[in-house]
Amino acid sequence: MVRVTLDNISKFFGKVRAVVDLNLEIDDGEFVAFLGPSGCGKTTTLLMVAGIYRPSRGRILFDNEDVTDLPPKDRNIGMVFQSYALYPHMSVYDNIAFPLKLKKEPQREIDKKVREIARLLRIDELLDRKPAQLSGGQKQRVALGRALVKEPDVLLLDEPLSNLDAQLRILMRAEIKRLQKELRITTIYVTHDQVEAMTMADRIAVMNKGRLQQYADPQTLYNKPANIFVASFIGSPPMNLIEGELEAPDDNSVFFVSSGIKLKLPNVPPNVAKDGQREVVLGVRPEDLQMVGPGDADKEETLEGSIYVVEPLGKEFLINVQVGDHVLKMLVPADGMPEAGQRIRIRPNFSKIHLFDKKSQKALL
Ligand SMILES: Nc1ncnc2c1ncn2[C@@H]1O[C@H](COP(=O)(O)OP(=O)(O)O)[C@@H](O)[C@H]1O
Ligand SMILES: [Mg+2]
Repeated sequence: MVRVTLDNISKFFGKVRAVVDLNLEIDDGEFVAFLGPSGCGKTTTLLMVAGIYRPSRGRILFDNEDVTDLPPKDRNIGMVFQSYALYPHMSVYDNIAFPLKLKKEPQREIDKKVREIARLLRIDELLDRKPAQLSGGQKQRVALGRALVKEPDVLLLDEPLSNLDAQLRILMRAEIKRLQKELRITTIYVTHDQVEAMTMADRIAVMNKGRLQQYADPQTLYNKPANIFVASFIGSPPMNLIEGELEAPDDNSVFFVSSGIKLKLPNVPPNVAKDGQREVVLGVRPEDLQMVGPGDADKEETLEGSIYVVEPLGKEFLINVQVGDHVLKMLVPADGMPEAGQRIRIRPNFSKIHLFDKKSQKALL
């Protein structure tokens, strides 16, 4: 168990800036996810922690030791790849035992550790099989077993569940999380799936185009996204984001204005509008919009629109509402059956709205 520090690391491949000036601290025993779209630099960062890539600049520390120049074999890491990379000619037992044999541990010690880890991962019935005789989920467990058997200081997982079907992914998600909490191994988990990151990690490093966007626990990312990228990437169905302007006609009120929309924002201090006008993006999550009756709310604080289409989700309806030139998604309890074309009035939960500066893309509230 160690604390991992990424001290301003970058990685360039010729002209490609895969990772740029990344600063990150992963605590002892913490489970951190690297989250972002394909190509944002997640795997490159993981391979730098593993020692397979050397950073173009910057340092990597394990506790207080600078490991930047240490080869992988001297870092005591366990790694699981998307492809599992099991040895096809070896049994499950030998696959798991392999790292210990490399370290020339005594046979009795190896046998004890292999059986222990196999029991923990519930594959102790499969030790004699070859990888070709295993299901995807079982192969995944063997790969995990091989990474864990040498009791690594740091566990590195690169999209380990992406080859599994949806149900098995949900199952393995919980298993890996439980295992990590039990063993308390400092863990970095790479994924492009925000649900995986949100459900499993203590903290999430959201990356885009090689740069860190925000590093926080799941609830903070959800409730206080630092910029438009994080706001749009976290949450399903995604946040409604509307481009427009803030207008402060006097010192007491602020309006958000966009084509076909004029909405009073009671919770926003007028000085956010700067000199009375500012280009912004308004963000509202689908669950933070609700339908209101004609007399239920101050008219200036509501939007009028018509139902474009209704998507039943079982417990809830996802209602697409046409408001001016925009289609907003609204999540409401499934009750009756709203009809396409119906005129409705909706009101945001103003304590939960987000405002971003259009130019800097950063959160304003
Ligand atoms: N060995 C390499 N040579 C050249 N470019 C690379 C290499 N590895 C990764 N890249 C580039 O670096 C960027 C980040 O890649 P990667 O870290 O694999 O992204 P992710 O894992 O987030 O999908 C991409 O633009 C990718 O094409
Ligand atoms: Mg990758």
